[in-house]
Amino acid sequence: MTEVWAHRGASGYAPENTLPAFELALEQGADGFELDVQLTRDDEVVVIHDETLERTTDGHGWVADHSLDDLKKLDASYGNAKYAGTQIPTLAEVFDLVRDSGARVNIELKNSEIRYKGLEERVLALVESHQMASRVVLSSFNHYSLRHLFGLGTTLPLGALYADPLWKPWQYAGRLGATAVHPSVSATRRKIVEKCHEHGLSVHVWTVNEPADLKRLLGLSVDAVITDYPNVARALIG
Ligand code: G3P
Ligand code: MG
Repeated sequence: MTEVWAHRGASGYAPENTLPAFELALEQGADGFELDVQLTRDDEVVVIHDETLERTTDGHGWVADHSLDDLKKLDASYGNAKYAGTQIPTLAEVFDLVRDSGARVNIELKNSEIRYKGLEERVLALVESHQMASRVVLSSFNHYSLRHLFGLGTTLPLGALYADPLWKPWQYAGRLGATAVHPSVSATRRKIVEKCHEHGLSVHVWTVNEPADLKRLLGLSVDAVITDYPNVARALIG
């Protein structure tokens, strides 16, 4: 059965990567959600998509130049008055929120533009201390980071994110040490899904918002669709 993972939470309805967006995703019947993490100046793991603050908060500059205390003073409601005052969450706060829900959490390490030193170790430590290992999938567009995680000996599922079609991703992901591929909608074809499954790899596709794409991917039996509208996907899957 294809799982529904809410992209940055139920970001079609609530400010992306915030606790209300994650809560809403679960209320809408998502099996879990995807989120993005970056590292603060004082090495705290925070949940925010961009390396900079301008798009989704009332702050300015780089996440990496701010302490967690600084970031907690910002409004992350992304212009949505209903959610005014919503803060940038830490990864630990998200884990506390979903502790009793059984929800899956796909943590995307956003470390392609800035190679945050120690981000992988910090994320692994938080997963361990919050006893979330059975529910977490780690992913990144930075495959050196995935390789670093593999080298650290983690047994957590590792997903190789990519946007443009890769040649034989089932071979590449296997050599990398990944357990899943995370292709874009347009990079997902029947043969790729079948070959990945034959090779024991899961297929988690992003960002699946159009009903026609949802139906095509459900027909391919992908393992998860990552969507801004979890209620729509849930209604289709049942
Ligand atoms: O993890 C899937 C998707 O979130 C990747 O792209 O830019 O939305 O983080 P982006
Ligand atoms: Mg993401």
